[in-house]
Amino acid sequence: MGAQLRALWGWFDSRMPSVASEWRKHAAEYYAPKNFNFWYFFGALAMLVLGIQIVSGIFLTMNYKPDATLAFGSVEYIMRDVPGGWILRYIHSTGASAFFIVVYLHMFRGLLYGSYKQPRELVWIFGVLIYLTLMGEAFFGYLLPWGQMSYWGAQVIVNLFGTVPVIGPDLALWIRGDYVVSDATLNRFFALHVIAFPLVLLGLVVAHILALHDVGSNNPDGIEIKKLKGPDGHPLDGVPFHPYYTVKDFMGAVLFLIIFCFIMFFVPEVGGYFLEYNNFIPADPLKTPPHIAPVWYFTPYYSILRAVPPLFHSQFPGVLAMGVATMILFFLPWLDRSPVKSIRYRGTLYKGALAMFVVVFLVLGYLGTEPTTVWGQFGFDAFFLDTKDVATWVARVCTVLYFAFFFLMPWYTARDKVLPVPERVTS
Ligand code: HEM
Repeated sequence: MGAQLRALWGWFDSRMPSVASEWRKHAAEYYAPKNFNFWYFFGALAMLVLGIQIVSGIFLTMNYKPDATLAFGSVEYIMRDVPGGWILRYIHSTGASAFFIVVYLHMFRGLLYGSYKQPRELVWIFGVLIYLTLMGEAFFGYLLPWGQMSYWGAQVIVNLFGTVPVIGPDLALWIRGDYVVSDATLNRFFALHVIAFPLVLLGLVVAHILALHDVGSNNPDGIEIKKLKGPDGHPLDGVPFHPYYTVKDFMGAVLFLIIFCFIMFFVPEVGGYFLEYNNFIPADPLKTPPHIAPVWYFTPYYSILRAVPPLFHSQFPGVLAMGVATMILFFLPWLDRSPVKSIRYRGTLYKGALAMFVVVFLVLGYLGTEPTTVWGQFGFDAFFLDTKDVATWVARVCTVLYFAFFFLMPWYTARDKVLPVPERVTS
């Protein structure tokens, strides 16, 4: 059998040698720094979740109906009647949140180790494009179950485009395909969610990896391992990706899948954060829910939107702030003026700024999930301030700090007292 397989491979290889040479280029002879740590699991995990979402999505599509009168019922049918349907849906809904958790941790690693800095600017830019596409993909997918939150969430977000001066109303109409979110909207969101955006995502992920493999991976010390090569021409501080990191990533995948399965089998709704309770009610265009909030992964930006006061009765300043809050990520490689990459050799200014940014992002995220009256439960009503005002002002301060992290970066990274970076990676 072994000899037959080898012969088959020989036949294949002589006709298409590029498969073997690509394998060598991207795995067997791709030298990755030998000091990768926990933070380097998340790129491979993001690829795993992308695969899970595509496969579970294909099977869900087999029984889902993109029709405003049938969509909600078809999801219930998948959950109750289709053999294994419930597991497919929970895989897909858990996968959506898991995707964002993994991608947020992956991006945070970039901030920790300065992975966006020269020569990896393109790797980062493709990453930000992936992040924006992923947001679009999640937004379109969220309309499909046609629940109350699907419907009203889409209504709110599409109306935001309507606030853009001059072209806004036409833009919103063009996105919806109707004057309100309707069957036409559901149909086009379905097309975008199952075909257009997954294709773009796949293409961007390929570009992301190719760009990374051209320049080589960064590492927790932020040292360019290609600068120091041994007599064999390979980096002294590098090890072949396969088998060293294929084995490490496999272990990460197993740990990840254990947590994933636990959530999927025991707490798939995660207290309304992964699957919102209001979305188990069919969409009703005549009944606006009292509290409309996006899924948790959008809430930091939603908080920024709510924190910026309207100007001449227009919400556009908030929409603009939300747009800038995401687009600013593209410029990170040029905002950071530090001579070192890794947090290990940075000074207190950057360490403090990054710690503050994490806190601010989490607080904004939390506030975005709650109605603006949330702080009433802490007794703030008793003070001189209205509870609504307290939450709004906390969100405003956090919004200012969010932008300060980026806009002041050229200043504090240039002044930060950095430590000397060693020649070789530390273990
Ligand atoms: C579908 C989503 C994504 C996938 C599948 C993906 C995949 C990967 C993989 C496999 C790696 C190499 C292994 C690793 O460093 O963990 C990597 C590295 C990297 N990714 Fe992503 N990525 C995704 C999203 C993003 C996003 C959203 C960003 C940033 C906005 C980003 C920025 C980076 C950077 C800067 C590196 C190089 C890190 C280093 O060498 O230290 N990626 N990505």
